[in-house]
Amino acid sequence: MEESTVAADDILNDLKTEFTSLVQRIPKHCIQEFSKVVRDWFETVDGFVDNNDVYLNSIREDIRDYEGLPLSAVMATEHVSHPEIGDFACLEPSNVVHVDQFLYDDDVIDELCEDGRMSRNYCLECKSHRTKPLTFISHSASLLMLKYIFKDVLPDLNGKVLVDVGSRLGPVLYGGYYYSNSSKIVGIEMNEDLCRLQSHVIEKYHMTERVKVICADVLDKDEILLEADVVVMHNVFEFFANIEQQIKIWRFLSKSIRKKGTLIVTIPSIDEMTQSLQMDFDLLSWVEELPLAHDHHNLDPDDIDDLERVHLYRVV
Ligand SMILES: C[S@@+](CC[C@H](N)C(=O)[O-])C[C@H]1O[C@@H](n2cnc3c(N)ncnc32)[C@H](O)[C@@H]1O
Repeated sequence: MEESTVAADDILNDLKTEFTSLVQRIPKHCIQEFSKVVRDWFETVDGFVDNNDVYLNSIREDIRDYEGLPLSAVMATEHVSHPEIGDFACLEPSNVVHVDQFLYDDDVIDELCEDGRMSRNYCLECKSHRTKPLTFISHSASLLMLKYIFKDVLPDLNGKVLVDVGSRLGPVLYGGYYYSNSSKIVGIEMNEDLCRLQSHVIEKYHMTERVKVICADVLDKDEILLEADVVVMHNVFEFFANIEQQIKIWRFLSKSIRKKGTLIVTIPSIDEMTQSLQMDFDLLSWVEELPLAHDHHNLDPDDIDDLERVHLYRVV
């Protein structure tokens, strides 16, 4: 055996002994917090690769090349309409572009802009250099958001059923598979082309034992919601349902997600999603909001803003 291998073995053995004695000192109620410290540390180590990240990156690349999915990641069969109410209503639709945050992170967007396939700006006067940034809107969760939801926001999901309402390209399903122990992960998506895309990924990556997508309107799937321990709703209805439909869906959700203790993750908050809707029923008595720790280190301000849009509730 080479001398350097022996030295490395000795160092590793010493470290294992020290580590074992260190973890024995961790009080039970601090284990979760401590595991986060260790995970965060690994993410700062150059060259350290998490296998789950590798799978999710590979899925992203596959979906980018999926036949029939345009650069906007909006299928030709979808009816996406600019909201009449809420935060986006005041934006001029022609200055808004759909850029999927799960498929395209900032580095990929930079490459697409360099190739001339995407632009971050629009021209205020033709041929002039006076330009203004376009507003990018994503209909999917980013990798960063998925990791935050599954590693920091939600408790251990061992044996739990997770439902993503409006699963679209499926990031929440794949994130749930790779970053949580959830035993059953169900996506409900009303667009058939998007369901085909998700089924393709689920089969290709052998996730069928724990993951499935149901092609339906959530309004017809109350039995799935009743079974859920965790429900995720990411900007589901604003761009995909008119005001009357949104009111109907919220009434239905508050009646169907009734199991006490069910956790609901929303992006943005329920209040933001519903404040412009004239509802004659009370959502506040349905759930209580649980505080989230927002101790994001080494992130840029846009990413922190994104993560601060995540909210957690418990059905009371
Ligand atoms: C913003 S995307 C959510 C993406 C995904 N959950 C994520 O976080 O990446 C909203 C999706 O909800 C779907 N959707 C909207 N209303 C729905 C309904 N009533 N039933 C089922 N799916 C619906 C839309 O087709 C769209 O794909």
